[in-house]
This record gives sequence, structure tokens and C-alpha cells, in this order.
Amino acid sequence: MFRSSVFRVAGVALAVVMGIGVSGPVQAEVEAQQEPPGLLLTWQRDPLTTMTIDWQTEPDHPEETAAPVLRFKRVGDARWQQADAQSFAFPFSDRIVHRVELTGLEPGRAYRFRVGGFQRAYQFQTMPPDLNEPLVFAVGGDTRHRQSWMERTNRAAMQYDPQFIVWGGDLAYADGRADRLDRWYEWFEANMNTLITDQGRVVPVVVGIGNHEVQGGYYYNRDDFEPTDAWRERRAPYFFSLFAFPGHPGYGVLDFGDYLSLVIGDTDHTNPVEGPQTEWMQRTLSRRQGVTHVFPVYHVPGYPSHRSYDGAVSQRVREHWVPLFEQYGVRVAFENHDHTYKRTVPIRDGDVAEDGVVYLGDGAWGVGTRSVHSVEDTWYLAHAEGTRHAIIVTLHGDRQHYLVVREQGDVIDELELP
Ligand SMILES: [Fe+2]
Repeated sequence: MFRSSVFRVAGVALAVVMGIGVSGPVQAEVEAQQEPPGLLLTWQRDPLTTMTIDWQTEPDHPEETAAPVLRFKRVGDARWQQADAQSFAFPFSDRIVHRVELTGLEPGRAYRFRVGGFQRAYQFQTMPPDLNEPLVFAVGGDTRHRQSWMERTNRAAMQYDPQFIVWGGDLAYADGRADRLDRWYEWFEANMNTLITDQGRVVPVVVGIGNHEVQGGYYYNRDDFEPTDAWRERRAPYFFSLFAFPGHPGYGVLDFGDYLSLVIGDTDHTNPVEGPQTEWMQRTLSRRQGVTHVFPVYHVPGYPSHRSYDGAVSQRVREHWVPLFEQYGVRVAFENHDHTYKRTVPIRDGDVAEDGVVYLGDGAWGVGTRSVHSVEDTWYLAHAEGTRHAIIVTLHGDRQHYLVVREQGDVIDELELP
């Protein structure tokens, strides 16, 4: 049986009271707090007014014997409210996951919450009603070859106080396998260690699917493929259990009011790029032409910085999705999978164009990095290097600003789009 300690001592509050006329601390109090082994905040619907909260419990935690509840209140309110959780098994594990979706929240507000019987009070923030103030979030992918690498880039991103993080696939590298359960435990532990601010604000994450979420990596590697919930849950058991969004069929769109839409794609992992998913992509983008910021996010790059330009999945992305991005006014698309950092030139009709789409990313948040194509000799590359990084995105009105920060904290690239 794989199990870590029932109670974790993760948050230690050190209260120091300074006495008048005394030059040093006169009183120090250390208080141990109890936390669940895993906590995940994400969204299934509008982040202005909802929040989905998952927490995990170990098998002999008393939480399991009672009906699991989440307590929450708006910061400043006196009265705590309560919401019942839905509980289900963490795949191949003796842990239980408890899930609550809070709805009807007020935009741009801080809320406090406690999960089950755990002592620590956390906070979350609903997203703002508009972009009159800058909104900061972090983007990347390919998060955990080593927990220490993931934590380092998490910390680098957290220096910018992001409101949330978007990861476009290849999360724990468990490949849907029971014998790689511990990789998911590490993934959740990395987030417990690094994605909670000093004030206790838990940073939500929005994820997409990558090849390392799926047994075989790509649907066409499995003779038994069928486009059903049952097949996807069998072949990508962790992904479809542990993440409320995008949920089935493995791709989806998250709308932040009318100012931001994250369009999360599945690059042949549990759904073909072409066919129903491309039809959905067309509908989704066409209906969001009035949205200020629309970002496609997916795993396999259309414009790879390490792998071959002629790769079959990259070709399908360019054939089926890129024309839609160009048609419906996408400014930036986030790509992953190559374990490098890349920024393309603006591209339209397969050529450099001032009003083209920029492809950013290539997925090296917490993984071993790879070599890159020569920027000089590759028509579509503007910047490429094999380095772990996070992309810090700031939206302010209709402006987009990008800062690319390495795990060590230094800035390696910057881009501003009007
Ligand atoms: Fe990948």
C-alpha cells in the first residue's frame, strides 16, 4: 500500500510580537497546521462567479467517515457557509478526492475556506469583473520530470503573484499507469509546497491533456479506440478523474466574463484533431469574436522548436486549427511538448505577417530540456532555447504583455501586443 502520513505539517505560522523599546522579538509562537495531501482549485464555469475545489484524504483520515463538507465565507463576512462535496476514488490509490463547485460568488472578491476536518484556512480569489486593472496569470506545460524542477518554476512564477496557472498537458508523466501513481502524489505535493501564497491564497490551475496523460500517448496507438467516455476514462484514468475541467471529451472552453476565453484542445491524445473537435474549434472561435482575449492552448505544437516540422500531429494542427486561429482573430496560441522555450514570428497563410498569430511556449516547466532548431535557419522561429521557464501573461484592457521567466527567476524574453 502506498501511503504518506495522515497529517501533514505543511504550514507553520510564526507570530512575532515586537515590544516597545525592545530591540528584538519578545515573543514567538509556532503553530502547526493540518493540511490535506492534495488540494486543487480550478473552474468548470465562469471564474468570475464560480470556483471548483478538490481536496484529497488518506484512507484512515476521520474525514472519510463523515459527510465531507467545505466551509467558506467572503472575507469580511462573519458567517461561514457550508457546501457538501462529491467524493470519488483517486485512481489506483487508496486516497479519496472530494469535490465542491461553488457558484453565485461575487466577482473580484477574496473568500476564505476550510476543507473537511483540516485546520488550515485558505483563500481564493474570484476573477475580476473587467480588465480595468491588470490581470496576471502564468502559462506553460510539461510540468514534472522532477518534483524539484516543477517546484522551482512554480516559485519563479509565483514571484509575479499570478491569479491562476494554465498548463497545456504532460503534467505528472504517469502515462495513465497504476505503477506510476507516486508521480501524481509528487505533482500534488509540489503544488501544496509552492502554489499557496503567504496569505494562504491557493492559485487555481487550468489544465489540458498531453500524451503523458494517456496510455499509448495517442488515440491511434490503441486498436480499441472509440470516442466514448468509457474509453477515455480507461486510457487516461487520472486525467479524467482528477481534473473537473476540461472533462469529457478532453477539450473545452473556459469563458471569463466577456474578456477572456481559454480554448483547451486535445492534440490526438483522446480525440482526433480533425473531425468533431475541429468543428467544435470553429464554432467556439466564431462565437467569441467579441471576446477581447482568446487563447488556444494545446499540447503538440503546430510550429515545433525541437521536433520535426513534418511531424504528423504538427501537420494536423497547422492544417485544421491554424486557419481557424487566423480567421477568427487569435493573437497568441500556447503550444507545448518540445521541452524548450520558443516564440514564433507572427504567422499568417504559412508566412511571416505583421497581423499574424504568434505561437508561444513549447513546454518546459519542470522537465529535462532539449536542443532547438536554429532560429536563423527556421523561418517561423523568432526565439528558441532549451530552458525551463514560465510565461507570465498580463492582460490590461485589450493589451497583452508577456514576460518569460526562467526557473532561476531571470527574464529571457518579453513581448507586448496592442
Ligand atoms: Fe508531450
